Amino acid sequence: MSDILIVEDDLNFAKALEDYLSARGFEVKVVLNGKKALEVARSETPEIVLLDLFLPDYSGLDLIPELSLTSSVVVITGAGEVRLAVEAMRRGAYDFLVKPVDLEALALKLERFFPVRVVHGLIGNSPAMRRVVEEAKLASRGRASVLILGETGVGKEEVARAIYRLSGRRGKFVAVNASALPEPLFESELFGHRRGAFTGATYDKKGLLEEAQGGVFYLDEITEMPLHLQAKLLRVLETRTLRRLGETRDREVEFKFIASSNLKMEELKERLREDLFYRISTFIIEIPPLRERKEDIIPLAKHFIREFGREKGIFGISPPAEEILLKYSWPGNVRELRNEIERACLVASGRQLEPSHFSERIRGEHRILTLEEMEREYIKKVLQICGGNKSRAAKLLGISRPTLRKKLSEG
Ligand SMILES: Nc1ncnc2c1ncn2[C@@H]1O[C@H](COP(=O)(O)OP(=O)(O)OP(=O)(O)O)[C@@H](O)[C@H]1O
Ligand SMILES: [Mg+2]
Repeated sequence: MSDILIVEDDLNFAKALEDYLSARGFEVKVVLNGKKALEVARSETPEIVLLDLFLPDYSGLDLIPELSLTSSVVVITGAGEVRLAVEAMRRGAYDFLVKPVDLEALALKLERFFPVRVVHGLIGNSPAMRRVVEEAKLASRGRASVLILGETGVGKEEVARAIYRLSGRRGKFVAVNASALPEPLFESELFGHRRGAFTGATYDKKGLLEEAQGGVFYLDEITEMPLHLQAKLLRVLETRTLRRLGETRDREVEFKFIASSNLKMEELKERLREDLFYRISTFIIEIPPLRERKEDIIPLAKHFIREFGREKGIFGISPPAEEILLKYSWPGNVRELRNEIERACLVASGRQLEPSHFSERIRGEHRILTLEEMEREYIKKVLQICGGNKSRAAKLLGISRPTLRKKLSEG
């Protein structure tokens, strides 16, 4: 999946563009002719196509209608060919650039177009999310443990993975949910065991903590961990050694420890051993719920549309549908948004998600409307019946045309 497709037969220029844009974090693909451009556009639906108008096999102008079905087309023209640029826009191009291309200006333009991809895989434009990313960058350094707090589905694991990537650690990212393992197994799963340590231990086994050697160990829902294991975990974090069940020697372990919880700080403190709490709370990252960072909703939605809608040719979301997503409170946070977009992409036909593609819960069908809202909705319905003819609608509604216009422009 690429963000940007460069269609350019001048290899040097294409390469320069590609290097510059990849370095800025975009996924870039280059093709040298029109035929290949059409193929890649269909299979990968890049967000943007940078299109040279002079190609060996096609005139770029003729490709625009087809390419702009799936992508926003930005044409590249030589100085003195502004007439061509105008023609390109007429055929559906989104924007144009004049050679020689100012790379910095281009990158700025593209950044404004894309949801900000702060760290690969993490989407978010809001000040809150930017703060989280700054904290993740700091947290990724060194050995200190990290505690990530936030409601269910806000992206705690996603942030933990970002910390792992930023840390450049070579070992694995091992994720464990403390509530997912039944208690008798938990201990041996985490710490490993020696053959014969208990009935059923028929071979030596490395625990999950050891699996994270040189990497990151991520423990979700840390408060669900039984107290005696909390004590054992604390010892591992403090001594950086662990002992498999049934063994008498300590093994050295080195990993970065990240814990998370969807409880509030006070509750967390109550449920965790005090010494463990102090050990892991040197670095705390709090991810606010999605309803408190509404700026992230649309960029995230678009990101998920690319994930789920691409194959069906769904590439966007209509303004009324955006409004619905912005109004909803998202108690299940980003996970709920992702599920909703996946579902909408399944039921949708056409190129954009519309209000009717969302579930009733999200649309708030049963919400009480104010009289004014109700009136506006009714007027819209009548207008629709009249095929948009305002005079007819006004007549049916028994009001004057200016009154109708006024009512439509309010609110
Ligand atoms: N900022 C983000 N950018 C892109 N995807 C995100 C972001 N935040 C969350 N997601 C996606 O939303 C879903 C839920 O995120 P995640 O599993 O990290 O949440 P969580 O806080 O760990 O949830 P839980 O409390 O249920 O364990 C995942 O599919 C994840 O990829
Ligand atoms: Mg999680």
